[in-house]
Amino acid sequence: IPSKLAATPPMGWSSWNKFAEHIDDKTVRAMADAMVSSGLRDAGYTYINIDDGWQGKRDANGVLQPNEKFPDMKALTDYVHAKGLKIGIYSSQGPRTCAGYEGSYGHVAQDAKSFADWGFDYLKYDLCSGEWFYADADTVKRSYHEMGAALQATGREMIFSLCEYGRFDVGSWGRDVGGQLWRTTGDITDDYETMAKIGFDKNGDAAHAGPHGWNDPDMLEIGNGGMSADEYRTHMTLWAMSAAPLMMGHDLRETDAATLAMLTNRRIIAIDQDARGVQGKAVRKQGALEIWAKPLADGRVALALFNRGTQGATMALTPADAGLSGIAQVEDQWSGATTAALPGSYSVPAHGAVMVVVKGR
Ligand code: DGJ
Repeated sequence: IPSKLAATPPMGWSSWNKFAEHIDDKTVRAMADAMVSSGLRDAGYTYINIDDGWQGKRDANGVLQPNEKFPDMKALTDYVHAKGLKIGIYSSQGPRTCAGYEGSYGHVAQDAKSFADWGFDYLKYDLCSGEWFYADADTVKRSYHEMGAALQATGREMIFSLCEYGRFDVGSWGRDVGGQLWRTTGDITDDYETMAKIGFDKNGDAAHAGPHGWNDPDMLEIGNGGMSADEYRTHMTLWAMSAAPLMMGHDLRETDAATLAMLTNRRIIAIDQDARGVQGKAVRKQGALEIWAKPLADGRVALALFNRGTQGATMALTPADAGLSGIAQVEDQWSGATTAALPGSYSVPAHGAVMVVVKGR
């Protein structure tokens, strides 16, 4: 069944990066409140996703119950929906999740039904539990197919997020099992080296990305404090150029003005969410310097200049970087400033990034 969901990369927030297992009903509600009051919802961030750590035990009929930190799942999803948001949940195909909670093994259809009955709109399905992690490609594919089919059988529209770290060329079969996004690597951490390795070098095969199916380089760390402003700008620029899901991972109540400006820059979000859905990639590399291009639905081309080095650098763009023979207009995506021609050069700070959109002549 072709998916109608995720025509553009999903945007929202997930509990894991900041709260890990320390997540509860109250915090999820507070994140929904902050999503609205901060303006993040109106900038396009709509999913509030509960990651690992919500699960309790199964009842006598095998129905999975939330733990004591989530007294009433239906009331929680109602609360989040009333804010004009959507809400996500998490499970694993093995008997245990990565953090050791109850997984869906042997209860796949039953759990899919619970998620639908509770009112969830999104499921992240995480490959954990020892022997499952080391299972062969067919077993892993089958386990995702089983849950994908179970979600569809509920009749409720739920985004299906595959978390199996890019193994077995997941991009080539993620759509076939009903997935709308699939992780391409292990976990991001809040440091430049890990973020850059994932974002520049490991984000799957761009050919597999497009409307209704996206490579997922993992959730954002912007706002968690481990990187400099230039490094976070690179994080956001790289995810937008890559048409990556934009799942924030910080405490939304503590979003300072600079972080909010970075996360809500509508020009940067528009590149990520461009309807053509092309995952941009490097068109030119020279040592630590990379030029990336992403063709857009309106015929313009987004270009990013990245400096992965530890010294500031002077970089220049050419029309050929955008596959064009001449340029009629250049818009700086971070500032919004527009010029008629490419400047002679850009100075790009260490670990920094510049993004422009160019229009051909
Ligand atoms: C591994 C995933 O990659 C993380 O994003 C998170 O979901 C944890 N598992 C939860 O245990």
